[in-house]
Amino acid sequence: MSSSSAFDGVDPEIRALRASSFGGQAAAYAEERPGYPDAALLWALEPVSGRVPLRVLDLGAGTGKLTEALLRHVADVVAVEPDAAMLAQLRHRLPGVRALAGTAERIPLEDGSVDAILVGQALHWFDLDRAVPEMARVLAPGGVLAGLWNLDDDRVPWVKGLKEAAASTVSFKQWRRGSIPLEGPHFRVVEHAEFAHGQRRTAESMAATIATHSHVLTLSEAERAELLARVLDYLRSTPETAHGEFELPITTVTVRALLG
Ligand SMILES: C[S@@+](CC[C@H](N)C(=O)[O-])C[C@H]1O[C@@H](n2cnc3c(N)ncnc32)[C@H](O)[C@@H]1O
Repeated sequence: MSSSSAFDGVDPEIRALRASSFGGQAAAYAEERPGYPDAALLWALEPVSGRVPLRVLDLGAGTGKLTEALLRHVADVVAVEPDAAMLAQLRHRLPGVRALAGTAERIPLEDGSVDAILVGQALHWFDLDRAVPEMARVLAPGGVLAGLWNLDDDRVPWVKGLKEAAASTVSFKQWRRGSIPLEGPHFRVVEHAEFAHGQRRTAESMAATIATHSHVLTLSEAERAELLARVLDYLRSTPETAHGEFELPITTVTVRALLG
């Protein structure tokens, strides 16, 4: 297993910069990013769903998008997040949740203390060589690790066009589906599933969402302004998105792995 295998050919400095960029727009992130569909969470948790109590860790929790979705199904959720601004948003929005500063490579929890670890849009930022054994350490026997990604569905032509309009100088393929290497001495039975999802957007709120993406956050101010103007032009001149609200089609790609 190699820590770079989800990002072959990507400059590690750009990757590190992008991984730590989200706090710069933490409030906008909380406002604009989509949540997660229940079907994806339930599928991810299915291998441990009979456990009482069911203890779940939201790792790389950001502003708490996935935490909030988990709370619809699970009472015992702990959130861990390294970025102080993202963590502050999470604590503000979900004051009742236990929320800790920490990373996937150094999780501030006891051995075997959770039944499931769910990771929203963040597994690809982890140093897997260190994070995989660390995640295995905090899971109880038979526990499950799941990664979820909300991907704009670019099988739809106007979404493909939007992605092209929003490409930046630090864009890279976010991950090749199925390329996060979880199989190994710690995890077995790795399974994938996809769930249809969506988000109501306008041209303006869609541009605001794109402004919270790491390939935009890490640009210079001038480059960012140019990219967002290009995106707005595209959305305002594309029939599907030019007139008020539209539905952004999203596929929630989910992978789950059982502790061996
Ligand atoms: C795209 S955001 C996703 C946030 C949240 N999970 C969600 O679904 O909205 C990626 C998050 O991963 C966090 N992150 C980056 N590197 C990390 C690491 N090594 N360990 C834990 N979290 C990390 C970032 O600080 C950021 O909050």
